[in-house]
Amino acid sequence: MAVSYPTPVYSHAGRGEFSEVYEPAEDSFLLIDALEKDAECVFRSWLWLWSGVGIFVICAWSFSFVHVSLSNLKYICTDVNAAAAKCTAKTASCNSVPLQPVITNLVGSSGIEAAWAGGERGREVLDRFLPVVPQLLSKKGLFYLITIIENNPDEIISILGKSGLMGEVCLSTRAGNERLSVLRFMWSKET
Ligand SMILES: C[S@@+](CC[C@H](N)C(=O)[O-])C[C@H]1O[C@@H](n2cnc3c(N)ncnc32)[C@H](O)[C@@H]1O
Repeated sequence: MAVSYPTPVYSHAGRGEFSEVYEPAEDSFLLIDALEKDAECVFRSWLWLWSGVGIFVICAWSFSFVHVSLSNLKYICTDVNAAAAKCTAKTASCNSVPLQPVITNLVGSSGIEAAWAGGERGREVLDRFLPVVPQLLSKKGLFYLITIIENNPDEIISILGKSGLMGEVCLSTRAGNERLSVLRFMWSKET
C-alpha cells in the first residue's frame, strides 16, 4: 500500500524575520517529488546543503522516519543565511522534527541575494562543492541536486563521472522560462 507523507507546515515563511529567506518554489517541490519517488530506499543519514525554509529537510525526515528509528537517524542541514537557518529551525519545530541547522558559508554573500545569484552559470558555489562530493558520499549513498539548464547539468554529470559517480536526470519539468532537472548520483559498481 502506498504510504502518504504529511505536508510540512511552513506558514511562517516569507514574512517578518523570515522575509529575506527564499520561499519554496517549483525547484523545491520538484526535489521533494524526486525524493518521494525514492522514499522506499532507506536513508539513515542526510546532509542538506542550502536548506532555505527547510521544507524538504522535513519531507526527507518523514520519508526516513517510516523505516528508521529516531535514534538511528543522522541529520545535518546548513545555510549561509542566518535567517534561513533560523527559519529551518522554526520549520523543524513546527513539524516536531528535532533539528539544529548549522550556518556555513561555502563562498559568497549571506543575504537573500545568495538564494538566486549563483555567479557565472549559477555554478559559483556548486563548483566549489563538487570536488568534495566524492569525499562525503558513502558507498551506498545518493546525492541529489536540483539544476536549471543554464547550470549545464550534462557537464555536472561528466565532472562527477570522472570521480566514479554515476549521474542521471531522475525528474525534470519546465516552470515558466526555467527548465528544471533533479540529478541523482551514486557510486558506479566498478568503484
Ligand atoms: C535557491 S535557495 C533554495 C532553498 C531551498 N533549498 C529550497 O529549495 O527551498 C538557495 C539557498 O542556498 C543558500 N546559499 C547560497 N549561497 C550559499 C553558500 N555560499 N553557502 C551556504 N548556503 C548558501 C541561500 O541562503 C538559500 O537559502
